[in-house]
Amino acid sequence: MYGFRLPEDFLIGTANSAFQSEGAIDRDGKSENIMEYYARMYAGKYSPGIEKKLKEGRIKSGRVEPNDTTLPDRGCFFYDNYEAYIEDMAKTGQNVYRLSISWCRVIPTGVGEVNPKGIEFYNKVINKLIACNITPFVDLYHWDLPVCLHEKGGFENPEFPAWFEAYAKVCFEAFGDRVKLWSTFNETHISINAGYAGGNFPPFATDKKRSLLAGHYTLLAHYRAVRLYKSMNLGGKIGAVNCTSAIHPAWMKEDDIEAVEIQYNATFDWWTQPMLEGTYPQKLIRDIPYVRDNMPENYQEDLDKWFIPMDFIGLNYYVANRTEKTPETKMGTRAVEPFFSSPGQQFIPYPPGLFDTAMYIHEKYHGIDIYITENGCALRNQNDMEKEIEDPERVSYIREHLRMVCRLIKCGVNLKGYMYWNDADSYEELDGYRLRFGLTWVNHETGERVWKKSRHYFSEICKSRMVN
Ligand code: NOJ
Repeated sequence: MYGFRLPEDFLIGTANSAFQSEGAIDRDGKSENIMEYYARMYAGKYSPGIEKKLKEGRIKSGRVEPNDTTLPDRGCFFYDNYEAYIEDMAKTGQNVYRLSISWCRVIPTGVGEVNPKGIEFYNKVINKLIACNITPFVDLYHWDLPVCLHEKGGFENPEFPAWFEAYAKVCFEAFGDRVKLWSTFNETHISINAGYAGGNFPPFATDKKRSLLAGHYTLLAHYRAVRLYKSMNLGGKIGAVNCTSAIHPAWMKEDDIEAVEIQYNATFDWWTQPMLEGTYPQKLIRDIPYVRDNMPENYQEDLDKWFIPMDFIGLNYYVANRTEKTPETKMGTRAVEPFFSSPGQQFIPYPPGLFDTAMYIHEKYHGIDIYITENGCALRNQNDMEKEIEDPERVSYIREHLRMVCRLIKCGVNLKGYMYWNDADSYEELDGYRLRFGLTWVNHETGERVWKKSRHYFSEICKSRMVN
């Protein structure tokens, strides 16, 4: 039935981000970012379900001390071991690695002076990747805003787009000769919607007006970076990484089908539509007072002034849900029990959802190029390396999702790449080191690394370029 050969130019590899992988959080001039700040100051408030976690002793309340496992101070020790990691990627046979640049390493004061040590580190990483025939796919921003900018209002400061553009310029000038695939922001839905309206992500605000304003300035920042990049004629492509669950109607009725549209609009299209078409999803502004009444002033004028379409969309896909219409929530929708489950897993996998979401994007955005920028299997730390490197669940996960990739390509979707999340067990923002996604097992005390079964399996696919 399968036995599908990936196209010649298809990129297949792994991903990770700066704050989750590097460690060395205060080395060589790097300043503190908000993920580190909130982990350090508010470990007890760091995640949804906090009460339960506290009771179970899984996290401590209050300020945490260095070496606490809720701190991103180690990641997977990528800062120190990047060469070994990249050599492993080369042995895996992958031809792409998605990484992010830490704004705090490159411009520790957020705006102004560039830190040569920061530039040097990313130069070494990029050069090593290229020497190993691995295409670097580089995110400018993966949730790690410099604290010094956050203290000045961060995303809510009207200066934010200019700060971001200046940072992007430094990166394009330093690395743009070798990096040909860029993305501006990672999962803005989480950092802005969950961070400013949902109250369950740094900075834990619950104010829709603030979230819409912060999101608006983020979009303007995205436009400015894209504009700048295009004006520099560096010959690469630039996009953004957005996320969504695969959303299905709870029941086959018109109300729930409409709820699906609202949910896609609120999570995915809220970002993707302005990035590709220069407008916010009108349905939400028209039909939902919670959105309409909190919109920033003159938002359309701003979009009109700065809009420039990006080249591709990065999709992070993990889970699926069933959604119903309800008068009980501000958005008028809510998720109900899914029709499938996977006992013991926090992120319940549903491979056909990858097909559904990518097809949704393909149809809605007229065949835009898509990269799957994240998709990964999360398993709880079992404190037993033997068990963890035998990870049959992850092998099945990869195979089943890659089968969907093949189907999408066969159906004519312009799917250009797949990046498994993540390359190695790293820091997971809401769970510390307790949740493992990696293809490589990492001892977070010593830095020891061991390939899991899933890495061997992934390697066979990368090398043969066949999905069976
Ligand atoms: C998406 C985020 O981009 C990444 O940082 C995170 O680790 C994964 N989701 C898994 O939660």
